[in-house]
Amino acid sequence: MRIEVGTPEQMEALGRRLAAMLMPGDILLLNGSLGAGKTLLVSGIAQALGVDVQVTSPTFLVVRSYEDGLLPLTHVDVYRLSSTAEFNDLELVPDTRDGVLAIEWGDAVRASLPEDVLSIVINAHEDGTRTVTFSREGQWANRSLEELAK
Ligand SMILES: Nc1ncnc2c1ncn2[C@@H]1O[C@H](COP(=O)(O)OP(=O)(O)OP(=O)(O)O)[C@@H](O)[C@H]1O
Ligand SMILES: [Mg+2]
Repeated sequence: MRIEVGTPEQMEALGRRLAAMLMPGDILLLNGSLGAGKTLLVSGIAQALGVDVQVTSPTFLVVRSYEDGLLPLTHVDVYRLSSTAEFNDLELVPDTRDGVLAIEWGDAVRASLPEDVLSIVINAHEDGTRTVTFSREGQWANRSLEELAK
């Protein structure tokens, strides 16, 4: 499934639509170049979950958790982690089973994750638009993404 996103506002709106279909234990892998819009998409998810604060990049803190929304949301950026072992030591996968785990640069730790993930790749184009490609892995294959296109 591919969605064309024209503006930052549309990227957040896409995140809000995605949030509506999320369930406890869901893992989202976000990939795409620096500044592609990964954090903005997570910000839209957080808005729809009713998280009260603005989501910012966790690049320096690595992990931020938002507990006050409809589902707990954990946002992690593995860009600066130096090893998969470091990611495993955070024990995020077991610790976020009752919420949503969103991982920026998630492909770097793909081998440490369960099979069931929603992979999201954001491609930035020269005119500022983005193409967002969703790939359903494992049990995600049984879930519809149709609502995202609306
Ligand atoms: N069509 C668009 N969709 C999303 N973001 C856009 C778009 N056009 C411009 N932008 C801008 O691109 C930037 C995206 O920043 P964001 O922090 O979400 O990227 P990121 O992928 O998380 O980057 P990083 O890899 O550094 O974490 C924002 O400043 C946003 O305003
Ligand atoms: Mg980011």
